[in-house]
Amino acid sequence: MITASAAGRVNLIGDHTDYMGGLVLPMAIDLATTVTAVAGGDRIELSSAMDHDSISIALPADDPAGVSPPWGRYIAAVAAELGARTGLRGAVTSTLPIGAGLSSSAALEVASALALGAADGNPAPGNTAEAVELARSCQRAEHAAVGVPSGIMDQLSICAGREGHATLIDCSSLHLEQIELPPGAAIWVIHSGSSRTLVGSAYAERRRTAERAAELVGPLPGADPDRIEALEDPVLRRRARHVRSECDRVRQFADALAADDLVAAGALMCQSHTSLRDDYEVSTPSLDQLVRELLATPGVFGARLTGAGFGGCVVALAEPGADLRPSAPGADTAWRVSPARGTHLHLS
Ligand code: GLA
Repeated sequence: MITASAAGRVNLIGDHTDYMGGLVLPMAIDLATTVTAVAGGDRIELSSAMDHDSISIALPADDPAGVSPPWGRYIAAVAAELGARTGLRGAVTSTLPIGAGLSSSAALEVASALALGAADGNPAPGNTAEAVELARSCQRAEHAAVGVPSGIMDQLSICAGREGHATLIDCSSLHLEQIELPPGAAIWVIHSGSSRTLVGSAYAERRRTAERAAELVGPLPGADPDRIEALEDPVLRRRARHVRSECDRVRQFADALAADDLVAAGALMCQSHTSLRDDYEVSTPSLDQLVRELLATPGVFGARLTGAGFGGCVVALAEPGADLRPSAPGADTAWRVSPARGTHLHLS
């Protein structure tokens, strides 16, 4: 019996920078997706407790994008990417909200990669280089499954996630640094009420536009701010300004955490939200409203949209005593999350 789990992630700061070779600071969280299965045969047969349906995929997997139901595409693409030879029979369960911007799809990719790898006799990644390799395979699978040109942040933050730490990733070198979260920092994730999907969103367009700006001023994370401000096209100028300034904020945020300066860290999160709203234009009125409400709540140091935007969740940094659950009774739209190890593989 194989039990393979992969966490979701929340990005503390550094959005829309990964695919431009910039800095990000995400953390794997204590909400996860688990594949529980027995290995054998030449089909992947898994039921989903979330969707009450199931997939049956013949190996070797081809045409992942044509698999139905759609969640099976991620698994088929991972199987194709890894060249999986041994089938699985079991179930997928999850404590992660789906489509909320907490990387439920990356968690499914990584959990199924671990399970398929184990079925073929491969161990879980044992060091950083192997974690990077696994993350890259899952990123390629995501591209094949849904055609969204996403960066490496989600998969890598899960594969490298360590308990008690956020991971500072330089996405140009894939150099990782584990940053300990101070004990006085509580992290909350609050749903804006509108779910989001990157398929069909303006994500790919944002990436293309940022790449056009980089052709004019050089790699955006280190581009000369004067050259950015001199860009003639105001849209290119704003997009480039966001990427450039966001990378600086990530570095400053990591320093603020190391110095246990949560007031400074919170202020940087607020600046990040403003930049994502005004320069990158990926926020929504409900995300903006939620951030405003949180900033008026006692004990909150800072808040920002997290992930791609266009809906989904806000992340807030707060004092441990603060309660950021929405007041509506029974609302299940806020999670206090802890930095967790990103992957678990258990064989019995
Ligand atoms: C999505 C993508 C990531 C990253 C974020 C924005 O989560 O999958 O690669 O680009 O959006 O920071």
